[in-house]
Amino acid sequence: MVRYFATAARGLEAIAARELETLGATEVSPDFTGVHFVGDRELLYKVNLWGRIIFRVLVPIAEFPCHNSRELYQAVREIDWQDYLTPDNTLAVHCTGGNQQLNHTHFTALQVKNAIADRQRQEWGRRSSVDVKNPDLAINLHVYRDRGILSLDSSGESLHRRGYRPAVGLAPLKETLAAALLEMAEYRGEIAFFDPLCGSGTLPLEAGLKALNIAPGLFRDRFAFQAWKDYDPTLWQKLIAEAKEQQLSALPAPILGSDRASESIRQAKDNSQSCGLSDRISFELRDFSQIQPPCDQGIILCNPPYGKRIGEVKKLEGFYKLLGDVFKQRFTGWTAYILTGNKELAKKIGLKASRRFPVYNGSLACTLLKYELY
Ligand SMILES: C[S@@+](CC[C@H](N)C(=O)[O-])C[C@H]1O[C@@H](n2cnc3c(N)ncnc32)[C@H](O)[C@@H]1O
Repeated sequence: MVRYFATAARGLEAIAARELETLGATEVSPDFTGVHFVGDRELLYKVNLWGRIIFRVLVPIAEFPCHNSRELYQAVREIDWQDYLTPDNTLAVHCTGGNQQLNHTHFTALQVKNAIADRQRQEWGRRSSVDVKNPDLAINLHVYRDRGILSLDSSGESLHRRGYRPAVGLAPLKETLAAALLEMAEYRGEIAFFDPLCGSGTLPLEAGLKALNIAPGLFRDRFAFQAWKDYDPTLWQKLIAEAKEQQLSALPAPILGSDRASESIRQAKDNSQSCGLSDRISFELRDFSQIQPPCDQGIILCNPPYGKRIGEVKKLEGFYKLLGDVFKQRFTGWTAYILTGNKELAKKIGLKASRRFPVYNGSLACTLLKYELY
């Protein structure tokens, strides 16, 4: 059994922990922007394949006192790097956190790289080259107070990059946040789902993947662990085959998205095409004022524009009032969720929220508001 650390967006740690438990992780314990858990290699692959909410899975290989760059260099040089890479493999080092002495992540990462290179030169007379985009081995150093934790990154590119969404609009949600919002809305696929401000379609597409039990990792070309020395392709192929078998072919209830911007609808349709859902999710060009419920009950989930400048915010007041009016008047029997980063605008909705979930959209503190419409 191995200890892992899955990174996740701030505020989503508890929901990410639940996801990991469902996938079979044990000793699951949420921490700041991540979750510790324990499992075997199969679980590591499975979590990369099925994780909808986490960003990446790190495998800690060393923990050491790390007050300053000298101590860091020594500790990294002592690691037996032959276990992980040869000079023919490329590497990249990414650093997070810091302390008083190590307060420049680029410089700190450089120290790690130098220590690995010096150790390799001593043993092989040669060293690995750096490839920041597509390394054979991605290394993460996290510095917290006077400790350093060095990990191998098993995911590589962040897992929110599913690989199905080349086209993104102006203010797209991260797929991982969209998946977390669907969890908060307790969406399981059995009732209708509608995003009337769908932009490039992130929420309906994530809803579709979830409802059809499609593993989000199936769209990715590559995970970092596939270049590791201990990579087990048979195990990986078994997990891929199982994931494909577990997919449903028909949606239990409709999923719809609409938006008034034709470019957004074009992008949403392109994205649904690339994840094979174009015949199952409907995207329509429609102004919000014209929307109608497709059936008697379901979940509406949307993130309206927040407006960054004062003038924009003023203009949006009427739109937020319209959101409340349309939901109240036309969507009896539905439950609506609105993600907003502006409390003043949220008041204009004019409905009483039955729940409020604090979330971060990037660095912006937001709230997901829940409205029961009856
Ligand atoms: C913040 S974006 C939503 C982004 C989307 N969740 C995504 O991930 O791509 C807000 C969307 O609301 C749409 N919108 C704004 N006012 C609208 C209106 N009156 N009717 C329909 N759509 C509108 C915009 O075109 C924009 O795509």
